[in-house]
Parts: sequence; C-alpha cells; structure tokens
Amino acid sequence: MRKKLVAGNWKMNKNLQEGIELTSEIINMVRDEVIGNVEVVICPPFIALSSLINLTQGQKNIKIGAQNCHQELSGAYTGEVSAAMLKSIGCQWTILGHSERRQYFGETNQLLAQKVNTALSQSLKVMYCCGETLEQRNNNEHFNIIENQVSEGLFHLSAEVMKNMVIAYEPVWAIGTGVTASTEQAQEIHAFIRDLLVEKYGNETAQSLRILYGGSVKPDNAVELFSQKDIDGGLIGGAALQSRSFTEIVKAAQ
Ligand code: PGA
Repeated sequence: MRKKLVAGNWKMNKNLQEGIELTSEIINMVRDEVIGNVEVVICPPFIALSSLINLTQGQKNIKIGAQNCHQELSGAYTGEVSAAMLKSIGCQWTILGHSERRQYFGETNQLLAQKVNTALSQSLKVMYCCGETLEQRNNNEHFNIIENQVSEGLFHLSAEVMKNMVIAYEPVWAIGTGVTASTEQAQEIHAFIRDLLVEKYGNETAQSLRILYGGSVKPDNAVELFSQKDIDGGLIGGAALQSRSFTEIVKAAQ
C-alpha cells in the first residue's frame, strides 16, 4: 500500500508572516489523527523554510520542503540555494523540475538529473515533476515527452533509490488554468509512467513509488482523482494558498 501524499507548492506567494499564519491554520485543521494515513508536505519560498520547519517540529505527518535547489553543493552561483543548505536547516524535501522551472529558467532533463543526484546526496527526498504542454498533447507527443522527462531525469538511479522517489505528473495546460485533466487522462499517464518503471526497474520498485497528480486540483475534484489506481496524491498550487481548500484536499486523500 502506497501512503498518499499531498504537497502544497506555494510558488512565489506569501511573505513570512502570511506563511506562518497559513501553516498554523493548516496544523490546527489537519490534526495527526485526522490524516493518519496521508503525508503532507508544504513547500513555501526559501525565506520561510526555517521558520516553518520550527513551527512544524513534532508534527508527524506535516513536513516542509523546498521548491528547487542548485545542482552544485556550493560555489560562486549568486542568488542560488544549495541542497546542503537545505539540509542544514532540517529541510527534508525538495521539488525538482517543476514546469515553471523548465519553462522560465531553462531547466533541462540533463540538468535535472544532476540536481536529483545532488539533492539525494544530501538525503533530501525529491518530488520530480514532468508534464507536457498543450501543443505537445495536441500533436500527440505527450507520451514521448513524459518518457524522456522521466527516463533522462531519473533512470540513472538504482532501484533502491528509485523506490523512495516521488514523481508528479503535471500537464502544463492544467497548471493554474482551472482546467484539470480528466480522471481518465490523468490515470492514463500515471499508468504509463508506472509501466515505464516496471520495464526499467521491475514490479516491486514500480509499485512502491508514488506518483502525484498536479494541475488545478481543487476540493471538488480531488476525491475522484485520488481514487484512481495509480494516483497517489497531489501537488497543489493555487488551492494550497488557503488553509480550507488545502485541508479539504488533504482529507480527500484519506
Ligand atoms: P495549480 O498548480 O494547482 O495552481 O494548477 C499546480 C502546480 O503548479 O504544482
């Protein structure tokens, strides 16, 4: 049985005070006994990580993660944050390869393979994102695109390491648009990703790894999405910025 995971990606939203307020509300609304079988990861901007890690100390099911980290451990990279720095503040997770990083910051699968290695070398857990654009889907290229993103970014890893990775399928056309992939479209890609994993790593590894869906997940579509066989939770953007909608989505994953 894969434990469901719901992660909130705040992107470049919330200042420190707002972040503390939102996280406090989430802690109060999502008690451990309510979400015993769901793992929650909140991914605020870098400046809030340390405070929110302190705030969630002792919360069994709520952890804090970064949205990105650099591929090198240190050096002359003005404005960047390294995996070693994240580790030093007790951060446990990082998102890598979000489509906004790919699109606006030119992150390629090759670069992401390096970032994955560096993050893992610091014992960070990684949520690796993949997903096609609308144009790619319309051209029927989505399976190829997803296969390349997953294989080039991750398939250098051993089966042992792979088991603990999390993959997030986020069709770019569904992110922040209010258009969700239908449950059939989402399940189809999740099953495709799991098949790729079976082929490369065998069934045991493929069945252990969690695959999240992201892209306009809301309280009213979460239950149906999360009930699909290969959908193991969600990566939530807009709806993670309010405690009520986020916690309703967490509850939908139970
Ligand atoms: P959204 O974002 O829920 O606002 O569509 C999802 C994401 O980008 O992770």
